[in-house]
Amino acid sequence: MKQLVILISGRGSNLAAIADACAAERWPACIAAVVSNRHEAAGLHEAQRRGIATRVVDHREHADRTSFEAALGAAIAPYRPDFLLLAGFMRILTPQFVEAWAGRIVNVHPSLLPAFAGLDTHRRAIEAGCKLAGATVHLVTPELDHGPIINQGAVPVLAGDSPATLAARVLQMEHRLYPAAVRWLVADELAFDAGRVTHRTGEAQWLV
Ligand code: GRF
Repeated sequence: MKQLVILISGRGSNLAAIADACAAERWPACIAAVVSNRHEAAGLHEAQRRGIATRVVDHREHADRTSFEAALGAAIAPYRPDFLLLAGFMRILTPQFVEAWAGRIVNVHPSLLPAFAGLDTHRRAIEAGCKLAGATVHLVTPELDHGPIINQGAVPVLAGDSPATLAARVLQMEHRLYPAAVRWLVADELAFDAGRVTHRTGEAQWLV
């Protein structure tokens, strides 16, 4: 049974999608805890409603990133996670933290990486005149939003889209992509080689 810890900062819809798929599909995995860096994160209620343990490590109570990450690490450690899943976790992790968890931190990013790393992806995609947008689930490396890609999903950018309408369409894709990626991880169905991720039996790593 793989142990998962999910890190959030806000709404928690990806955490809900992962938790529901884990239960419905009976993954060989357990969501041991959800940890938020904000007390007010609505996702904490999503976790509690599902009977998942929650912890808060508020970055505002720490003088610097090193002290915050030491507290974060201490909150996570008792759950002995095999994987840390970032799901709308809005803190940049230091290279030291990422290296300590190398190959075991996963993130969902609301763009088709390597396009539009960083924030404000939907506005930037619309302003660039993109016809497709999407989401990417990837392993976290020290360089922001640049780790090996596990799977990606594309959605259209429609005439008249605002960043909010595009974000809502991309979010639905995230809810399909992220559970699929985690299911592969916990079932050991992925192979990692030279910065590339392939599915061992060739399952499609893209969605439309
Ligand atoms: C998602 O769009 C994710 O890609 C981005 O933040 C949002 C989090 O949404 N990093 P939720 O908290 O999972 O609902």
